[in-house]
Amino acid sequence: MENQVQKKRIFSGIQPSGDLTLGSYMGAIKNWVAMQDEYESIYCIVDMHAITVRQNPADLRRRALEQLAQYIACGLDPQKNILFIQSHVPQHAELGWILGCYTQFGELSRMTQFKQKSQQHADNITAGLFTYPVLMAADILLYQADLVPVGADQKQHVELCRDIAQRFNGVYSDTFTLPVPFIPQMGARIMSLGNPENKMSKSDPEGCVYLMDPPEVIQRKFKRAVTDSETAVKFDREHKPGVSNLLTVYCAATGKTLEEAEAEFSGQGYGVFKPAVGEAVIELLRPVREETARLLQDKAYLESVYREGARKAQGIAQRTLAKVHRKIGFIAR
Ligand code: TYM
Repeated sequence: MENQVQKKRIFSGIQPSGDLTLGSYMGAIKNWVAMQDEYESIYCIVDMHAITVRQNPADLRRRALEQLAQYIACGLDPQKNILFIQSHVPQHAELGWILGCYTQFGELSRMTQFKQKSQQHADNITAGLFTYPVLMAADILLYQADLVPVGADQKQHVELCRDIAQRFNGVYSDTFTLPVPFIPQMGARIMSLGNPENKMSKSDPEGCVYLMDPPEVIQRKFKRAVTDSETAVKFDREHKPGVSNLLTVYCAATGKTLEEAEAEFSGQGYGVFKPAVGEAVIELLRPVREETARLLQDKAYLESVYREGARKAQGIAQRTLAKVHRKIGFIAR
């Protein structure tokens, strides 16, 4: 007889606030692809989060569609996973409001990402930017996710989500599954190629590699990557942050261990090492770039994927929302 054990559920998302980068790929998407057979997976394009800072509407639309194509091109099978756009499932905003009433001002004030972003956008610190982690908690809790595969920078938000869920469950009895962040061993925090003290981010074109960068651009960025004045290819995050970052990228791209990579480049200078990392990334991203370009030619297919994704997501989300409404005392619609 077939084994009917219920699969555990995954939820994660990426903002279409910039083109997808190697950081998001190594910190998140790579794991999503690896986990898709073992878990029931739901992946979102979080356009509502993206508008917490000002976006150009045409770019936002283009990036959201391109991001869906990239999810598929990276290997996420729309038959196995639910792929959808956040603003197509209104339950996210609805639960977001409710959870905001169970979240403390002080908790949100302590969020590292809020502190950083409110410095970067000092002239536009909106209420949305402040309550961003509440919407993220709604994203996760609507689907009763067990696991949330993210890069290290999102761990604090997932922990806050757990706290909110625990608080709500404490007041109203078990309602939400408590999610656990899943952070990869290799690639949880890819640093900028231009400044290895900073995280690789969408908004720093020279320090980051975009999934759609052509090979010559990728190679140029790696050849120019900041290292140090020594010559040894050795992992030492404190004293050699640039080289350590490149080693991490190399290992995450090739599947090799740090020891194997160090041995491979022992006795060779950065002049050999940096282009080799560039080459490994070019080969990693080549199929993704080509498949994305192909998929973007077929808008009707992409539309069918996000429509079907939203339909399935709404089915799950509405069950949770109805349960929440009942528990807090709203009259059924
Ligand atoms: P976002 O869009 O900034 O990043 C998307 C994912 O990529 C990871 N990541 C990185 N990992 C390693 N190194 C890097 N340099 C790097 N840059 C980005 C992030 O950790 C993340 O996993 N708030 C989220 C989006 C979100 C979400 C959610 C995630 C909204 N709702 C629900 C999970 C569950 C964000 O801003 O990610």
